[in-house]
Formats: sequence, C-alpha cells, structure tokens
Amino acid sequence: MATSVKDPYTAVQVTDRVYWVGAIDWGVRDFHGYATQRGSTYNAYLVLADKIALVDTVKAPFVGELLARIGSVVDPGRIDYVISNHAEMDHSGGLPEVLAAARPEKVFASTLGVKALSEHFSLPSEVTAVKDGESLSLGGATLHFVEARMLHWPDSMMTYLAEDRVLLSNDAFGMHLASSRRFADEIEAATLEREAARYYANILLPLSPLVGKLLEKVGKLGIAIEVVAPSHGPIWRKDSGRVVDWYAGWAAGKANRKAVVAYDSMWQSTAAMARAIGDGLAAAGVETRVMPLRESHRSDVATELLQAGALLVGSPTLNNGVFPTVADALSYLKGLKPRNLVGAAFGSYGWSGEAVGQIEEALREMKVEPASEGLRVKYVPDRESLSECSALGRRVAEHIHA
Ligand code: FEO
Repeated sequence: MATSVKDPYTAVQVTDRVYWVGAIDWGVRDFHGYATQRGSTYNAYLVLADKIALVDTVKAPFVGELLARIGSVVDPGRIDYVISNHAEMDHSGGLPEVLAAARPEKVFASTLGVKALSEHFSLPSEVTAVKDGESLSLGGATLHFVEARMLHWPDSMMTYLAEDRVLLSNDAFGMHLASSRRFADEIEAATLEREAARYYANILLPLSPLVGKLLEKVGKLGIAIEVVAPSHGPIWRKDSGRVVDWYAGWAAGKANRKAVVAYDSMWQSTAAMARAIGDGLAAAGVETRVMPLRESHRSDVATELLQAGALLVGSPTLNNGVFPTVADALSYLKGLKPRNLVGAAFGSYGWSGEAVGQIEEALREMKVEPASEGLRVKYVPDRESLSECSALGRRVAEHIHA
C-alpha cells in the first residue's frame, strides 16, 4: 500500500495567523568573530490571511528546511508576498531559492533593503520598496513596516502584525541559541538573560544610542505588542516586555561596580599582576572578572564588559609590542564602543617594555577614562610590586562611575 510522504520538518504555530518556519543551526560556532557556543536559529515566519506572506528566509544551506516547514502548513506556491526585513545573508540567503519555488506576486523590502538585495543577488522578481510606516493589507490582516535603520544594517526593518499583536523584529531582541524549544517561556530565565546580553554586547553595543531612539519611536507608535518574534533564538509570546526592558537598560549603558581584568602572560608575571589587581578591586567591593585571554574568548570579554564600570588590560612586551591575544581583544572591543568605563594598563617586561604604553593608547582611543598611570614590572613581580598591583586595583575602584 502506498504511503504519503510528509514534509520532514514541521512549522510551529505562534499565534492564530503566524507560524514559525525557520531553521535551527546546531553547529554554528562563529558569527563575525563572536563565539556562538550554543548555535543559533534563523527564524522566518509565515503569516496566513486572505493573502499569505512569508517574512524573511534563512541562511542558504537551510532553505530546504524552510521550504519543508512551509510545506507542512501550505504549499509554498501559495505564498503571495515575501517580506525581506534585512538583507544580511543569514536571513536572505534562501531568498533566491524561495522566490524560484514560490513565485510570489510581490517581494517587499525597505528602500535601502531593495538596494542591498540587488547588491547581493540577481533575483528572479523585482523587489518593491516600502517606506517607514507603510502598511500592506493581506485581507483580514495588515502588516505594518517600521524601519530600524542601522540596527544593525542600513536596510534593517521590522514588521508588525496588528491583528495578532506580533512584532517580527528581525535581529532586534534576538539571541544566538539553538534549542528544540521555540518559546522563551520554555527556557530557563538565566539562560535567556545571559544569551540576550551576549548578543547585545557583541552586535548591538556600538549602536546603543540608536537602540534608545528606536525604543522611543516604537513607544510613540502606540502599538500593542504581545509577541516579540525575532530572527534568532526564542519567541517571546509571554512577558515580552522583559527583553525590551533589558534592551533599554543596556542601551542606557549605566556603569556598575564591576571590573574586567583582561590579560595574557608569557611566564606568569603579568598573570600574577592581574590576580593581585583583581584582589585589590575585590577588596574595594568591586565584582571582578579576571580573564586570561588565551582561555577567554573576545566575545566573553565583551559580554562581561556590557555592565562593567572598569576595564584593566595587561600584557607582557613581545617584540616591542603587545601580545597577539591582547591586540586581538583590544581591536575587537574598540569596535564595540563600550561606554562609561574607567581603566588602566599593566604588564611585566624584560628590557624595552612598550606594551603598557600601547595599551594606554588603545584605551584612550576607546574613550576609557584613565584611573591611574599604567603599571610596569621588570621580569618577575616581587611582594612589593604585587602590593602596588593591589593598590592599583583599589585606585581604579575609587574612580568607577557607579
Ligand atoms: Fe544582521 Fe541576523 O543578521
């Protein structure tokens, strides 16, 4: 007897009209230098009304999974509209294949999205630009478009479905977290906050002033948002205000009595200095993370720095410069534009000792306010030098703006 073959992947219903049809990437471990130890998801959403719309696609290798999930709800050929909220290829990579399979009546993107898509792909369909505030009727439901320019690309946009009170927020309010669970209320609260903070620190931190403005703009729209459905990680169907409140707090960039001591060491001298500095900070009541950079990924340092008030960086001098791991961390952190930090540099050296001065210069470029002169120790720190390190920690603690 013949058996019917079912689509191997299943969509997950989010609201009356919205289905999750994305893909889970259990294996991705790097996103532009950000270590995604827990993988990610590429969320795409099908909206069913008189017309059927697909909002976003997935990274190209996962397009078969996307089409199969769509197929578990409707034949992909029935899709009328495709909305591209963002041209980055983790969301648009599957677009050419989706358009070829679905042949939708229309494809929509923001004005800058139209341009960005044309600079990525040779698409079989023309893409229509939608302006900020414009709406698209699906018959029985309406999609509203909200530009989120530079959050985090020029083309970024969010789509709001008023009837179901769902904000399809694309990269905003997301996290890189592969899970068999689709909803935030099914995942441990501490995991959610840690992964959302990690995502904010490594992607959105340099855009914090714009995050604040976007939250203000969405607040002024007066729209009711019950469900926040981002393009990465779990969907917030209950208590979605929690993630919005986290964003508001991180965007404000308030310093806390927390310090990050990031360093590398050749013969454990700079390591001994780092530990003594950490001890001085802790003795002054500062929550302290001492992070050896060969064991701590740059994105872990960025995450710890998100709510810190001090950054201290240490390096031995190697070939008249800073250690490679320290240079890597400084370059990465500079791009993230952390705010409201005080700091200092330290390190052991043998004869030339340029590293501390170079770190001070890098901290200046990052607008980290110097809380103390840099501290250099020749070869191996003795008891007195370690006392100076501890005193440096206590001095920095006095300057934290919290
Ligand atoms: Fe900006 Fe998830 O891509």
